[in-house]
Order: sequence, then structure tokens, then C-alpha cells
Amino acid sequence: MNKTLYGQISAKIAEQIENEVYLPGDKLPSIRKACQQFKVSVSTIQQAYSQLENLYLAEARPQSGYYVLSQNENLTEEPEMTDTGTPIPVSVNDGIFQVIKETENFKYNFGAAYPHSDFLPVAQLQKTIRKISRHHLKDLLTTGSSIDVNLLLRRQLAQRMTYAGCQLSANDIVTTSGCKDALSLCLNAVAKKGDVIAIESPAFPGILQAIEALEMNALEIPTHPKEGISIDALKLALEQWPIRACALIPTFNNPLGSSMPEDNRKELVELLKIREIPLIEDDLFGDLGTYGQRANALKSYDRDGLVLYCSSVSKSLGPGLKVGWISPGRYLKKIQKLKFLNSVTESTLSQMIVAEYFATGNYDKHIRRIRNIYAQNRKLMAACIADHFPKGTTISNPSGGYMLWVGLPAEINTWKLYNLAIKDKISFLPGILFSPTGKYNNFLRLNAAVPWSSETENALIKLAKHSLKAID
Ligand SMILES: Cc1ncc(COP(=O)(O)O)c(C=O)c1O
Repeated sequence: MNKTLYGQISAKIAEQIENEVYLPGDKLPSIRKACQQFKVSVSTIQQAYSQLENLYLAEARPQSGYYVLSQNENLTEEPEMTDTGTPIPVSVNDGIFQVIKETENFKYNFGAAYPHSDFLPVAQLQKTIRKISRHHLKDLLTTGSSIDVNLLLRRQLAQRMTYAGCQLSANDIVTTSGCKDALSLCLNAVAKKGDVIAIESPAFPGILQAIEALEMNALEIPTHPKEGISIDALKLALEQWPIRACALIPTFNNPLGSSMPEDNRKELVELLKIREIPLIEDDLFGDLGTYGQRANALKSYDRDGLVLYCSSVSKSLGPGLKVGWISPGRYLKKIQKLKFLNSVTESTLSQMIVAEYFATGNYDKHIRRIRNIYAQNRKLMAACIADHFPKGTTISNPSGGYMLWVGLPAEINTWKLYNLAIKDKISFLPGILFSPTGKYNNFLRLNAAVPWSSETENALIKLAKHSLKAID
């Protein structure tokens, strides 16, 4: 999606930094050398390097050139390959409900996984909404509208999904009321009470809630902080347990930030195809990659209709719109019927806003803007954590999205920390909510899609101080 030449070059160099072709402290090629290497002008390289500076990946040293910046301590542990755990019922809803209700109006809400409204395209959406209100509102408020809004939206979504490598038609897509609704519909379509669902560990609390609501059992599969679910561990689990479905976030995973390499994606889809196991793919953060090309969705490798692709505009245009969708493959009819059983339709007004907004062509520009801000915020937040949290703290280093997964020394209990922090109106999501087996007691998830200021930094510093008192 990066259209500018300098953006493409900075993305290539960023990828080289990511792949450790250049290490922290290394000098990047001089501007003259880079011009020769990329066959572009001096000003293009200067723009590319200044973008790397903006992303906190490089720094300019006077009279010397550009150098790779040191990254914070990363989560690099390999996942445990031997222990695939045991499928168990889930019970996280009470804890999540408590945290969300207690902290809803907090000024420093690092707990919600939604972007602050400063990062939404409010002015552009206002224009779109004014136009809709002028020309279509009367029509949209009734049933039997003269415009098939849902089809308009599904056409736009089918067009957008080509960026994720998926060739779909509008008829392959079912709209939903957000992505959580999509995930629940998919689970309902492919499994029943008591069935085993393989999930990443740590897992997105929303999928745990859906599994809990449907009285299924969750099986945690070790997941690598960079590469996502361990395919070896999943293979082992498939031999041991009657896994009915997998539910995964392969791109900029919430909470880990991991993104599966292309080969792993192909291998995973093939592995499940052989066993005819449906795979629910949550691609909500897929558009929010910092560098270069958007990752192909797992769905793009699916030739058998076994991947049920879910997403929404909640992370990019705003959770208040509640516009989501599924491309359910062979489960299309089942999903349509299940949806009909519950909500029948969603808000046509919201759908029209999203369809019209996509049609303006402003979406990609908006994404380019926010993904750079999120990259900067992740770096700033990680730097602040590295400076102030206790020694031994680890911080994820994702290349997209805006979540940070922070591991504190083992003796710190983040549920205790949460109870101390809320007294100062500071919130985050404690690690225990990311596991049906109560793992991750010393972890926390932070949202970096918050406006960055000295106040934000001070709130994190307070959190760091509290962590010294939250000892088990
Ligand atoms: C990975 C992931 N999937 C799904 C959801 C739910 O999305 P929605 O608000 O569109 O229902 C969230 C929200 O936090 C999320 O982070």
C-alpha cells in the first residue's frame, strides 16, 4: 500500500533492520551509496531516511551519517514445543467485564484495544456523513431502501480484500456487527458445545469470551512473539486432541504483535486442509502494518473454503460504526442462516458511511498516516517502559498494530498491579485475562494508540512505580 518511492525504500531498509541485516548501532549506507543502490535521487533517499528517523529506526549523527537505533529488549523466547496443554472450559468473562466497566472513562486507558479518537478520520467521515444525510437519510431510516447498501458495502469490501491477496466477489461476504460478532458467528457455525478450539497462547480475550459463551473448550497452542502460532506444537496437538477448529490472529496478533511468515501461513492452511479442520482468521489489524506490503491473509491460500475470514473497521475507522464482515468459504449459507436467526441485518446507516468512505479513496491515505503514528507511539512507549520498569522487563516489538505485550519479572502480579493502578485512574489489561489456564500473571497488555504527551509518560512511570508494590 506504500505508494511513494521514498516510502518503498524506507520500508525495504526497515525490513532489513527487522531481519538484522543491519544491527543496532550499524551505519546505514551513505546517501550517495543508497542513491546508487536504489537508483533514485538524493532527495528521495533523504526523505526515506527521515521517515526511518520518524519511525525511531534510525538516527542522523552530525557529520557522520545515519545509524540504526538500538531497539528495546524484545520478547524473544522460543515457545515451549513439548507441552500442548489440555483443552479446558473458559472463564474469563467476569474479569474482562470488571476491567472494562471499572475503567471505561479513565483518562489513561491503556487497556482498551481501540484507537483514541484523535487517530480516526473524523473530518473526512463528517463530510461523508453530511453527504449521506443530505441525499439518503430518509431512505436509510426505513426498510426496503431504494439503494442496496449492503451490496454496496460488500462490493467495496471485496475490492479491499485484494490487498490481502483474496479474490472474492460481494456474494462471498457476509456483513456483521463488528468483528467480535463475526468471530462468534463463525465459532457457532463450525463447532458446538464441548468441542475443542485451538487458540494462540496468549489469546485475544474476545475469542476466549466467545468460546466461554458457547461452552466450548479452549486449547492453548504455544505462540512465538515474532512468528505467531507454533506449527510444530499445533501438529502435536492435532495428534493428541480432537480439535474441531482453530481461531487465530495471524497478522499483528493481539496481544503479541506477532505476524506469521508467508511459508508458515501456507503450511498452516495445508495442514488443516488435510484434516478438514476449519480455521477462523481474525485479520482486524491486517491493514496496520508499518512497513511495505500488506501480508497475505490465510484466506488467500485457501482453495477448499475452510478459512473463515473475519474483520471490521473498528481499528481503522472507529469501533462506534460496528461494521464487520466475514468471508466464510464453504460455511456461507450456515453463517447467513445463523445471522438471520439473531440480528437479521445491521445498521444500514453505518454500512452506508463505510461504503461511501471507501469509495472516496481516502482510506489508504488515512492508514498510511496512522500506521506511522502507531509505529512512533510503540517506540516511545517501549522506550519509556525500558527506562522505568524493573530490570528483567521484556517488551514485544511488533511491526504493525498498536498493542504492546509486556512481561514483568515473575514475582510481579499484574492483577495486583491493576488494582493499584486504577486508584490513579490508569488502566491496562492484566495478563491473566489472556489465558484460560491462568497463565501470564506477570504480563500486561498496553494500547499505544493513545495521544503521546508528558502526561502519558508520567502515567506509565506511575505504573512502573506501582509494579514494585505488586509482588506475589
Ligand atoms: C483481535 C481483535 N478481534 C476482534 C475484536 C473485536 O472487534 P469489534 O470491535 O469490531 O467487534 C478486537 C477488539 O478489540 C480485537 O482486538
